[in-house]
Amino acid sequence: MSEYTVREELKPSGLDGISDDQINDHWGLYKGYVTQSNALHKELEEMRAAGKTGTLAYADRRRRFGFEYNGMVLHEYYFAQLKPGTTMDQAPHFKAAVAEQFGSADAWHEDLMSAAKSRAIGWAICYYDGTTGQINNHFIQLHEDGNIGGFVPLVVVDVWEHAYMVDWKALGRPDYLASLHKNINWPVVEARYQAAKSGQIFKRF
Ligand SMILES: [Fe+2]
Repeated sequence: MSEYTVREELKPSGLDGISDDQINDHWGLYKGYVTQSNALHKELEEMRAAGKTGTLAYADRRRRFGFEYNGMVLHEYYFAQLKPGTTMDQAPHFKAAVAEQFGSADAWHEDLMSAAKSRAIGWAICYYDGTTGQINNHFIQLHEDGNIGGFVPLVVVDVWEHAYMVDWKALGRPDYLASLHKNINWPVVEARYQAAKSGQIFKRF
């Protein structure tokens, strides 16, 4: 694996109701995931070279790699879809699909928000299953527990407290989610859906 780099082009600013200070702090954490993923990759290679793959330390580092790497990638999906001023009508095929599968676009959103408000830290993610064509919402514990192999993330909602503690306090998750909804970049969601539906791999950047 070559060195992974911070994707500066994905950093949002000027959001509606979410301050640049909040984003700057959050961005710093994303950069930490990139740094740690690179460090862990190097460390794992060194441990393999030293014949230490059977050790408890290697097993722990392997698990930590999944945490850091998922943290890095999920933040890229998250930041890439933040932009103020778009509407869900700019994701017409996605909107029609969730309306058909959930009864209405509002019902889909309510289901995603019910996952996002559940009592844990992690992520609420709307996925597309290319095998069945189903769209469904899942809760991801931490960064790595609950991601479904091969499913494509369409809408990625960070509900770690660090995502809102600068602008809101510990009980502020509902206020954060209300603001987040005003900043979903719906054309990006539509592009993700269109790519997934046609069997293409959506590029994060
Ligand atoms: Fe985060």
